[in-house]
Amino acid sequence: MPKGVVRKALQGFHPYVPGEQPPDGAGWVKLNTNESPLPPSTRVLEAIKAAADDSLRLYPSPTAAPAREAIARRFGLEPSQVTVGNGGDELIELCFRAFAGAGDTVAFPTPTYPLFEPLCRIHEAEASRHPTEDFAELPPSLGPDPSPLKFIVNPNSPTGALFDAHHVEAAVAASSGVVAIDEAYVDFAPRSALDLLASRGNVLLLRTFSKSYGLAGMRIGFALGSRELIEALDSVKDSYSVDRLAIVAAVAAIEDEAHHRGLVEEVVRNRGELARSLRGLRFEVVDSATNFVFARPPMPAAQVVAALRERQVLVRHYDREPIAGWIRITVGTREQHEKLLAGLKEILG
Ligand SMILES: Cc1ncc(COP(=O)(O)O)c(C=O)c1O
Repeated sequence: MPKGVVRKALQGFHPYVPGEQPPDGAGWVKLNTNESPLPPSTRVLEAIKAAADDSLRLYPSPTAAPAREAIARRFGLEPSQVTVGNGGDELIELCFRAFAGAGDTVAFPTPTYPLFEPLCRIHEAEASRHPTEDFAELPPSLGPDPSPLKFIVNPNSPTGALFDAHHVEAAVAASSGVVAIDEAYVDFAPRSALDLLASRGNVLLLRTFSKSYGLAGMRIGFALGSRELIEALDSVKDSYSVDRLAIVAAVAAIEDEAHHRGLVEEVVRNRGELARSLRGLRFEVVDSATNFVFARPPMPAAQVVAALRERQVLVRHYDREPIAGWIRITVGTREQHEKLLAGLKEILG
C-alpha cells in the first residue's frame, strides 16, 4: 500500500486476502473458498432471468423488502427482525460501524475468520483475541470480556468445529455488548443458535446465501436479531448494497426449501467420504460441521498445497501458527474428490 497516501491508522496494514479465483472454465478443481459444488435452484435462475429487464434502470428497494419478508416468513420472525446485506461480509462490517469504533475492543476466539483482524484496523478498534485450547472448545475467557462487540463463528472457520451450544449461550449471557454469531456454515451443522433470539436481545445471527444456497456469486447474506439491533445495522448501511437481481434470487432461494435441503444433504454425505479418505492417507481431520474439512497432512502443509496447485487443485492454507500445519479443503463433488485424492497420493508417495 503506498505510504503517505493512506491514513496513519492503516500504515503497515495487512488487508484480507481472499482465496484465489482462477478464470471460470479453466479446468481447476476449486476447493479453496467454500463455494457450493452444486448449482443454485433452477427457480433462482429463472427468477434472475425474469428480473433482468428494463426495470434495471431503477434502483432496488433500499430495504430489500421482498427478501426481508421472505426470510422472515421462513424463520417465523417479523421483517423488522431481519436485514439483508451484500454477503455476510457486509453484515460483519456493519456490526463494526454500528457497535464498535475507534478505541473499542472487538473480541473473538482464535483461530477464526481472518476478516475480523483487518476490520479492526480499518475501524481503529483493537482485537481482543481468545485462543482456543482445543478447536471445538469456546474459550471460557470470551464471556467475561467487556468488549462492546464479539464475534463467534459457529461452526467455526477455518477449523470446521462446532462450539457447544451451552457454552455459546453462557458467553452471550455474560456479555453486556452485542454478540454476533456468524452462522455462515450452520446449515451443514446439527444445530443453530436460532432459539437464542427469543431469549437474548444482544444476539445477532449472521447468515449467507453463498454456501448452502449455492449463490456466492450473487453476494447476499442476512442478519436475524432483535428489532433494536436490526435497526442499528440498517441505520449505518449503504442505501443500495443489495441489487435487484440479488433480491429476487434471495426470495426464490429461500422459498425452494427442497433444493436447499438436497444440496445440504449431498454436501454432508460427501464430507463424510472426504474425511474418511483423508484419514486413510494419514491426515489428522477435525470433525466438521461445515462444507469443508480442516486437515493436517503427514508432511508440511505448504508443500502439499503447492504440489496440489501444480496439479490444478486449489485448497486453502493459512501460513500462521497455530494452524500453519493444516489445510482447509472445501467439500466438492465426487469427481473433484477423485482428482484431489489422486494428487495427494502422488504427493505423499
Ligand atoms: C466465517 C465466514 N463468515 C462469513 C462469510 C461471508 O460470506 P459471504 O460474504 O459470501 O456471505 C464467510 C465466507 O467465506 C465465512 O467463511
